[in-house]
Amino acid sequence: MDGQSVSKTNDSDLPSDLQYQFGFGNHLSSEAIAGALPRGQNNPLICPFGLYAEQISGTPFTAPRKQNQFSWLYRIKPSVTHEPFKPRVPSHGKLVSEFNHSNSSTNPTQLRWKPVEIPDSPTDFIDGLYTVCGAGSSFLRHGYAIHMYTANKSMDNCAFCNADGDFLIVPQKGRLSITTECGKLQVSPGEIVVLPHGFRFVVDLPDGPSRGYVAEIFGAHFQLPDLGPIGANGLAASRDFLVPVAWYEECSRPGYTIVQKYGGELFTAKQDFSPFNVVAWHGNYVPYKYDLSKFSPVNTVLKDHADPSINTVLTAPTDKPGVALLDFVIFPPRWLVAEHTFRPPYYHRNCMSEFMGLIYGGYEAKADGFLPGGASLHSCMTPHGPDTKTFEATVAQGKDAGPFRITNTMAFMFESCLMPRICPWALESPSIDHDYYQCWVGLRSHFSREEANDESQKIQNGH
Ligand SMILES: [Fe+2]
Repeated sequence: MDGQSVSKTNDSDLPSDLQYQFGFGNHLSSEAIAGALPRGQNNPLICPFGLYAEQISGTPFTAPRKQNQFSWLYRIKPSVTHEPFKPRVPSHGKLVSEFNHSNSSTNPTQLRWKPVEIPDSPTDFIDGLYTVCGAGSSFLRHGYAIHMYTANKSMDNCAFCNADGDFLIVPQKGRLSITTECGKLQVSPGEIVVLPHGFRFVVDLPDGPSRGYVAEIFGAHFQLPDLGPIGANGLAASRDFLVPVAWYEECSRPGYTIVQKYGGELFTAKQDFSPFNVVAWHGNYVPYKYDLSKFSPVNTVLKDHADPSINTVLTAPTDKPGVALLDFVIFPPRWLVAEHTFRPPYYHRNCMSEFMGLIYGGYEAKADGFLPGGASLHSCMTPHGPDTKTFEATVAQGKDAGPFRITNTMAFMFESCLMPRICPWALESPSIDHDYYQCWVGLRSHFSREEANDESQKIQNGH
């Protein structure tokens, strides 16, 4: 999608003090001071108002045009103006970007975690972030990591930069006020935010105790899924993706620290100014947010159960058609209307691996045990499906269950073609539910040999 769209949205749902542009993949532009954006060229000898021109490339220079992502930032001082990077002290220890025997293990068991308690000790987004599982390598630009965070305080005099991949953040408790080089975003539980590879950002926590989920992808970016026979409309609409407007600060910041995640390790570099000094920018490589309540679900209107891919919000593709490095799928409020159909998710085994989280409410396939802020992991070809209570209750409703609206719920799934390795602190976590398997143990046989014999006899007799 091309065409500049510098606009102010009037949506009353948005914070009154923040403005956004809208669109997905658009080439946008924004200037905090009129005239700050060079006209007619990207890199003039002298930029307006004495700004420096700096490009950030989210794809190789030579990527095909329809995939090419980059932005030009016009800033008071260039990003390079800092002291050398040094390993952060203390090191982090719970961030992984290359999954192997030394830092993670394999486990095909169905896994589930209760919500992790938010710490009492001062913890910001960086220190509160920890890897749960993942596959591949940021060094090889192929793979993903799934993290969670529990934090209670804003980042102070430092900015984070992820040189490994893109973050898709799903807050579950507490709003995030995020300052980026392109401007500010406020993200509430029920919304998501994508912070692309390489952007510097600060996470403030206006509500204090906060918790959420993060999918990180290496060597790919999220895109909207193709809609095929659905047509032009449905699922997530481009116009509902919100992008910040330019915002800058010009002040002395002695001891300001850039914390760079590079190969899963943290490095720090000092500078004496804020990295949020971009007065104007243009490009299609930008942070953005999306309100999940804007999603337009599509599903069966007569019988059977569509595959969960029908609820894909964003997908990060691999080179193989239809095979995702990581899909972000939601299970939002919606009507269930299928006739003579088992309506909860079907029992299945999947060549893809599925990590699930719950933002609020309950999840239709689990009567209990899967809680907001908790998580589950069903890895490649590991069987899973509704728990015993859900199965029995659904069957007991009988064939004449009328239309039913699932309300007050927002579950989601990170689904990947790569088999995840799991970090030891996740497997040893006090939050892990050792009894998870028992939710299926009660599924008893309903098979009736007598009924089968009788029916079979009738068929053979031509009745
Ligand atoms: Fe599944």
